[in-house]
Amino acid sequence: MNVCSNTVINYHRRTKHSLQQYAQSPASLDWEDQPNAFRTFTGCKLIQFPETGAERNVLFADLAKPRKAEVLSEISVGLLLELAFGLSAWKHYGGDRWALRCNPSSGNLHPTEAYLINTNAELLLTGVYHYQAYQHGLEQRCVFNQPIENHGLFIGLSSVHWREAWKYGERAFRYCQHDIGHALACLRYAAAILGWTIELISECGDTELSTLLGLNRDEDFKADEREFADILCRIHIEGTAPDYDLDALIHAAHAGLWQGKAEPLNKHHLYNWTVINDVAQATEKPRTKPIKRQTSPPFSNTLSVCQQTATHIIRQRRSAQHFNPKAMLTEQAFYTMLAATLPDKLPFDMGSLTNNIHLFIFVHRVEGLEAGLYALPRNAEKLSALQTATSSKFEWQLLSAPLPLYKLISANCRNAAKTLSCHQAIASDSAFSLAMVAEFSATVEAAAWHYRYLFWEAGLIGQVLYLEAEAAGVRGTGIGCYFDDSVHEVLGLTDEIFQSLYHFTIGTPLEDSRLQTLPAYGHLQQGKNQRQ
Ligand SMILES: Cc1cc2nc3c(=O)[nH]c(=O)nc-3n(C[C@H](O)[C@H](O)[C@H](O)COP(=O)(O)O)c2cc1C
Repeated sequence: MNVCSNTVINYHRRTKHSLQQYAQSPASLDWEDQPNAFRTFTGCKLIQFPETGAERNVLFADLAKPRKAEVLSEISVGLLLELAFGLSAWKHYGGDRWALRCNPSSGNLHPTEAYLINTNAELLLTGVYHYQAYQHGLEQRCVFNQPIENHGLFIGLSSVHWREAWKYGERAFRYCQHDIGHALACLRYAAAILGWTIELISECGDTELSTLLGLNRDEDFKADEREFADILCRIHIEGTAPDYDLDALIHAAHAGLWQGKAEPLNKHHLYNWTVINDVAQATEKPRTKPIKRQTSPPFSNTLSVCQQTATHIIRQRRSAQHFNPKAMLTEQAFYTMLAATLPDKLPFDMGSLTNNIHLFIFVHRVEGLEAGLYALPRNAEKLSALQTATSSKFEWQLLSAPLPLYKLISANCRNAAKTLSCHQAIASDSAFSLAMVAEFSATVEAAAWHYRYLFWEAGLIGQVLYLEAEAAGVRGTGIGCYFDDSVHEVLGLTDEIFQSLYHFTIGTPLEDSRLQTLPAYGHLQQGKNQRQ
């Protein structure tokens, strides 16, 4: 095994939570000095999008159907960014007020930043823009000062690891990667509403992406608050777009005119989690060969029958904090949600993501289905490897269901699910909860940076479940806190061929009536009124 893969596996081991001990995290938190979840660059132009909260009448059930692409304009690009990374509401309780976004985030800390790279001079000046979610606008970070061929629009994502590490310490790197996966799926769903598609430019190396997004400009960021390059995506508006020239793009950014400095996120950095820097370095992706692009997306239609608009479902998505422990879920809704996670479905058509994650499901309350542990291999070829690696007591009885679902054991798993998820009742009071189990050691040994891709895949699955849950009239919550090796023990996994990387739970939510909900962009309206 090479040094980088070794660093990754050691990082993974030392950041496991166990019943005896949680992974290293701060002993105390200064909530007054929480890192700002909104990054702002001062000293550069802010271009606000003309509208917020726009609707489109595309039904959630019809999302995967081909439709006429919306024309490229400030309005359509604004809607894409809003539905992917923008605000969905504010919550208010006592003296506290906090924003929620279309993309979820562990601890609502939002380490993900999004950038727009524009080569279409008819839309905006060609250059690099930071998406400012609070203002719903673009901060003009770089203007290209040389002509560049029009290759359309690109989106770059990055992570401020410090935002998560501030609260979660060493395990935070994992959560940043989950959040990237969620954000990618959000982008894909938002593009689908506009009739657009997303292609991951997976050959791009992190150093190049860092240059493209201006993240290598140390003078523009406070030390320890730098952003780490994650992924470059290209937006396809209609049909097959002309080939892009990645080197020309990077050169344009390198030679461009950069403006602005990132405002500090918080005052005091009381902890320095060096293992996060080590794993970030070990998982840096080099430039790789382009992966052959699929000319037509492979996805099949969603199974959801939800007649609400996709814009509505995206904006109403929330994490459930409590579930009704008596409510039952219909078998149909259960199958529909799980089938939506299969790799021939909507957000998995962006190319070059791995297909290495399988679901182990703790069924608590689903009509017509015995309570117990079930498995959904997301890749039929891996069935026998999963059977070999897991407990010999499992029955692997294939159900007559519209997806390859296997019953492993009949049992009341509620207490186990709760204990395994760091004693969180959301894992047991729900209709079902699940573990996302990745093909781990071989994937990470092949290339250390695949570690991040595994978590992205898990985040994508999580976002599918969040939206499908809303569409089915129930609600979900991502679970990053679980006792890793206790989960493996329950599944009978004795080595690192498979590892559980993320958990999720879905059920009938109980609303907290003490919380007041305020409009997502009311603050912009207030600002306008005050100026008038
Ligand atoms: C990667 C990830 C891990 C999470 N882990 C937990 C968890 O262990 N327990 C929990 O109650 N919520 C968890 N959440 C839910 C977040 O707290 C929630 O997304 C955040 O507070 C924002 O709220 P929203 O999802 O309603 O927008 C997680 C979310 C993500 C994306």
